[in-house]
Amino acid sequence: MRGQRLITGSVVKDRSSTPSPQPSPPAKSAGREGEKRHIRSFVLRQGRFTPAQQRAFTEHWPRYGLSVDAGALDTRRTFGSHAPLVLEIGFGNGEQLLSSSLREPCKNFVGIEVHRPGVGRLMNALASHNVDNVRLYNDDAIAVLEHCIAPAMLDEVRIYFPDPWPKKRQQKRRLIQPDFCALLAERTAAKGVLHLATDWADYAEHMYSMLESSPDWRNRAGTARFIARPDWRIETHFEKRGRRLGHGVWDLLYDRC
Ligand SMILES: C[S@@+](CC[C@H](N)C(=O)[O-])C[C@H]1O[C@@H](n2cnc3c(N)ncnc32)[C@H](O)[C@@H]1O
Repeated sequence: MRGQRLITGSVVKDRSSTPSPQPSPPAKSAGREGEKRHIRSFVLRQGRFTPAQQRAFTEHWPRYGLSVDAGALDTRRTFGSHAPLVLEIGFGNGEQLLSSSLREPCKNFVGIEVHRPGVGRLMNALASHNVDNVRLYNDDAIAVLEHCIAPAMLDEVRIYFPDPWPKKRQQKRRLIQPDFCALLAERTAAKGVLHLATDWADYAEHMYSMLESSPDWRNRAGTARFIARPDWRIETHFEKRGRRLGHGVWDLLYDRC
């Protein structure tokens, strides 16, 4: 299936393997051909894109980069091994993904992040540690899940500090929504795990109620609702910032039923 992409049963030819520069997309877009319109959970920040981060795309993208247009992910071909597959969505600067890949060398990791400087930064870090069990998409997680990840392919999904969109009128942009939980469930293997963390109390409640109302996920915390931060999750930049602002932190851990 490499060189092709799956669109709910149909197949479209490969277009490219290197991401093109990304202009800011509209808030709501159908994205690729055949894709349902959805509200984007991100706004591409202009931010600083350092020469080193830009160079990473020339030097390391061929090793670490994956393209949605290349279609369904073939893990054996991509990683050369058949190990448990962990997906981290919205990895930001990638500190957690780097730490996980070093700490859990017997797993394969796929990261998705729309923010190009973060992808460049992580590729430089991965290359400097000669990490070989991580691959990255510089794209919208929904497109990756829809076009590249086969049903029941994932063993773990990790989403740490997704954008909270705190204002009432922005909350429709939150990534964790019923359709998204259903898509994750479909792509996660039986007994697979979903781990979420946030430093926004009302987003934690929102995540909890989304997952509790889904028949696909069982809360490992039971009536306690939230779990203590597991030792595999390090404190990222966003978590530190949240704590500095006096926010609490909530971890949710769910098993795929
Ligand atoms: C608040 S940051 C947290 C980053 C990181 N997980 C951490 O804890 O430091 C949320 C990240 O999710 C990314 N993001 C938001 N929606 C996304 C989507 N649909 N697909 C991929 N990345 C997304 C944003 O670009 C941003 O870097």
